[in-house]
Amino acid sequence: MAYLKRVNAVQSYQTDAPPLYVAGSIIMAHDSNTLYNSGNILHGMTRISEQEIAEVLHMADDLQRFRMLMMKYECAIAEVRTKLENLNRDMSLKYQRNPFESIKSRLKTPTSIYDKMKRRGLEVSYDSIAENLTDIAGVRVICSFVDDIYMLADCLAAQDDVTVLQKKDYLAEPKDNGYRSLHLIIKVPVFLADETESMTVEVQFRTIAMDFWASLEHKMKYKRDIRNPETVSEEMRFAADLINQLDHRMTQIREKIDYVE
Ligand code: GTP
Ligand code: MG
Repeated sequence: MAYLKRVNAVQSYQTDAPPLYVAGSIIMAHDSNTLYNSGNILHGMTRISEQEIAEVLHMADDLQRFRMLMMKYECAIAEVRTKLENLNRDMSLKYQRNPFESIKSRLKTPTSIYDKMKRRGLEVSYDSIAENLTDIAGVRVICSFVDDIYMLADCLAAQDDVTVLQKKDYLAEPKDNGYRSLHLIIKVPVFLADETESMTVEVQFRTIAMDFWASLEHKMKYKRDIRNPETVSEEMRFAADLINQLDHRMTQIREKIDYVE
C-alpha cells in the first residue's frame, strides 16, 4: 500500500530508507510510518484521482530501480568530470594554460524529471525515463576561449570508452535568441560491483561570457512579468553578438601574447 498526499510547498524531501519520494506535487511512501515520521507534511492527507494513484503506484514499484538509476547517473557525472579534469592537467602542463575555467554538474531532480516527462506527454516510469531523457546527468564546462571548447570536446569524444550520440553546435549555428554553446550527448561506461552500464550524459561547453549570457536568459524565461519582452529579447540578441565579438577579440589577444612568448 502506498500513501499519497498532495503538497504545494515542499519541492524536495529526502529521508533514509524506507523511501519517501516527491514527484511534482505528490508525495509517496511504501508505508504510513515513513509519512508520519516526516512530520508536518502528513497533515491534510487527501485522496487524489484514481489515475494519479495508479501512476504514482507504478512509480513506487519502480522506486528502488529508480534510485539505482540515479546512482549510476551520479557515477557517470563523476567519470566525465574526471576525464575533463585529466585533460586539463595534461594540457596545462603541455601548454601552460588551462583549457577550462570551471566545471559544473548536476543530477536532474526527481521533480524536474517528472515535470519534463509530463510536458512531453510521456509515461512516468523507470523504463520510459531511462529511454527518453538524455539530460539526467548534466556537465557544463566553462572555457575562457572558443578554440579550447572544440579542443576539449574533440579530445573527450575521441576517448575509447566515449560514444557520441549527438552533437549540437550552437557556436557555428547560434539559436535565434542568440544562445551559443556546444552540446554533446555522450555515453560513458560506469563500472559497478557486479555490472558495467553505459550511461548517457549531456555535456555543454561554453565560454565564461556565453555562460553569463545564458544564465541571464534562463532567468528571463521564468519571469512572466517582464515589461516590453520584445525589446528585452532584442537586447539579449544584441548582447549575444557583442559577446561573440568579445570572445573572438580575446582569442586574438591571447594568440598575440602566445606569439611573443
Ligand atoms: P531541452 O528539452 O531543454 O533539454 O532541449 P533539447 O532537448 O531541444 O536540447 P538542446 O540541446 O537544445 O538544449 C539542452 C539544454 O541546453 C537545455 O536544457 C539548456 O540547459 C541549454 N539551452 C538550450 N537552449 C538554450 C537557450 O536558448 N537558453 C539557455 N539559457 N539555455 C539553453
Ligand atoms: Mg535537455
